[in-house]
Formats: sequence, structure tokens, C-alpha cells
Amino acid sequence: MAKPGLRDSDVARARVIPIGGGKGGVGKTFVVANVAVSLARRGLRVVAVDADLEGANLHTCLGVEHPSSSLADYVAEREEDLQKLMADTSVPRLSLIAATHANISSSQPSQARRVQLVRALCDLPADVVLIDLGSGTHPAVMDYFMVGENGLVVITPEPTSVENAYAFMRAAFYRRLRLAMVSLDVRKVVAMAMDQRNERGIRTPLDLLREVQAVDPTEGTRFVEAMQSFRPRIVMNDVQSRDDIRLGFSIRSVCRKYFGIEVEYVGYVNHEDAARRSVRSRTPLVEIEPDCDASVYLRRIADKLVPKESQ
Ligand SMILES: Nc1ncnc2c1ncn2[C@@H]1O[C@H](COP(=O)(O)OP(=O)(O)O)[C@@H](O)[C@H]1O
Ligand SMILES: [Mg+2]
Repeated sequence: MAKPGLRDSDVARARVIPIGGGKGGVGKTFVVANVAVSLARRGLRVVAVDADLEGANLHTCLGVEHPSSSLADYVAEREEDLQKLMADTSVPRLSLIAATHANISSSQPSQARRVQLVRALCDLPADVVLIDLGSGTHPAVMDYFMVGENGLVVITPEPTSVENAYAFMRAAFYRRLRLAMVSLDVRKVVAMAMDQRNERGIRTPLDLLREVQAVDPTEGTRFVEAMQSFRPRIVMNDVQSRDDIRLGFSIRSVCRKYFGIEVEYVGYVNHEDAARRSVRSRTPLVEIEPDCDASVYLRRIADKLVPKESQ
């Protein structure tokens, strides 16, 4: 069935999986590149899309040194056909849409262009489309995180990364809620709750639910549906101990208890010295060191995201 607001012909043919995390340097691009290669090696047609217009480097991780076209051409309306931006990589069946050459004065697409872009991403001729998101919680980043399937949040076991991951999931959740609410009064309440120091003392989504139910019970039901359908997935990257691995479970518990959000912990990737070497040699880790633990875990994550039986 089509999503609200979309025609049946707009239904995603490819599985679109956005990958974000709030913080820079946590390994989003690393995960996208390696998961993309793993899935392509399994025989799937994969498009890896760099949506990090301010810090594009997916092309480097995938060994495409000077991409001739870029998502920036679509953003600037120089190119209308997103498919034409797909460049081949050295891995069969894996294409890249790079994000180089963005206009630094206004890198993000307008709201209207974003809607078109989201549709075009779902229509790409592929089995799987992975979107590498930029850092931060810009509305454009949040919109990409809402595309397709439950997005993946990459977290490293540092307090700063964990903090930003919560902020990221919170921002994505409130944005989704605001879009799901129909009544203007309720939308206003949601918008107010986005300010953590709001005067009504709404601190968590559960507080907000009570407030919405009081204003409009029908919207309350819609709220619960939106809450239940928001199921971000998390990966702990660069782990070095059992405690680091366990942190993923703690984050899942916190999300359930305080936010009322179900998070799926899809796996972890250990710290791997060869990761930096793989970036320097512009070759994904799963290609240069296919048997190291991190590569095994990365392929496992790829298999969780796109199970073999669904292929
Ligand atoms: N599991 C890991 N072990 C060691 N280094 C890693 C690991 N994951 C990522 N890195 C390194 O961290 C750096 C930042 O990763 P990157 O994917 O560019 O982050 P982001 O896209 O989130 O900004 C890269 O140099 C990468 O090689
Ligand atoms: Mg990146």
C-alpha cells in the first residue's frame, strides 16, 4: 500500500535505508561503504547515495576519486534525472551518487526539491538504496532519515556520540510526529515540545502523549501509531570491550523507558586498525580484509538490514 500522500506508482521499489547518527566521525560513511559492498557482493543491485553535501566523502571510501556528477547537480536543478548521477564503482552492481561540488552558500535542497528528491530516491533502479546522511539535525537530514525503511543510527561508545544519537533520534521522532498530526492545535503542542525547556514541562514523548490525548483523543490514537511505527535501528561502532557492546542494549532500554520508542540493536563493529588503512587505500574494509572480525560483523549487519530470505 502507498504511504499517505503518495500514489501507488510512488511506492518504493528499492529498499531505501538511511544511515545517520547525529555526530561526525562515528563511522556513518564507513558503515555505508562496507554494507553497500557486502550487499552488492551478495548479488543485489545497490546504490550508495552520499547525502552529506557539506562533508562528502563516500566517493573516497568507495574508490571513486573524481566523480563527474553529484547530488549537488540535482539540488541546484542542473539535472532532473537522479539516475543520470549514478556512477559505477569497481564493485559489480554497486553504483554511487556522490555529493561533491556542493554550493557552500546553500548546500541543502529547498523543501520542494527535497520532496522530489525523496521520491526519486525511492524510484532508483536498484534492490537497495543506502543513504549516507550528514551530521547534525538539519531538517533536510531528518527528512532523508524518514525515507524508506527504519533508519540506522551509528553510535560509538563515547558519551558525546551517545548524547548526539539521542538528540538525533529525538529530533527525528518529533519531526515524524508533527507530520503525522492533523490538528493544528496538536501540531502546535508538538512544535512547543521540541523545545526541551518548554513552559508546559513536556520532557519526553510520553509526557507529550498525555498532553495530546488531553487536547484531542483522536490525535492521541494517531500519536500512538506514529510512535509505534518509529523504530530506528542502531549499530555500535568502534567497540573495544564488552561494556561497549552492552551500551547498545542500555540505549535500547533508555529509549523504551523514557521515550516510549522501540529501538532495534542490529549489531556492533569492533575497533579495527585496518579501517584507517582501508580509507587511505580508498578500498572498503570488507574488500581489503574480508576475514577480519570487523568485516564479518559488517556483513552480518548487512544481512540483518536486508535478510537473504527477502532477496
Ligand atoms: N570500527 C572502526 N575501527 C577503526 N576506525 C574506524 C572504525 N569505524 C570508522 N573508523 C574510522 O573513523 C573515521 C571516521 O569515519 P567516517 O565513516 O568518515 O565517519 P562519519 O561518516 O560518521 O563522519 C574514518 O577514518 C574511519 O576509518
Ligand atoms: Mg561521513
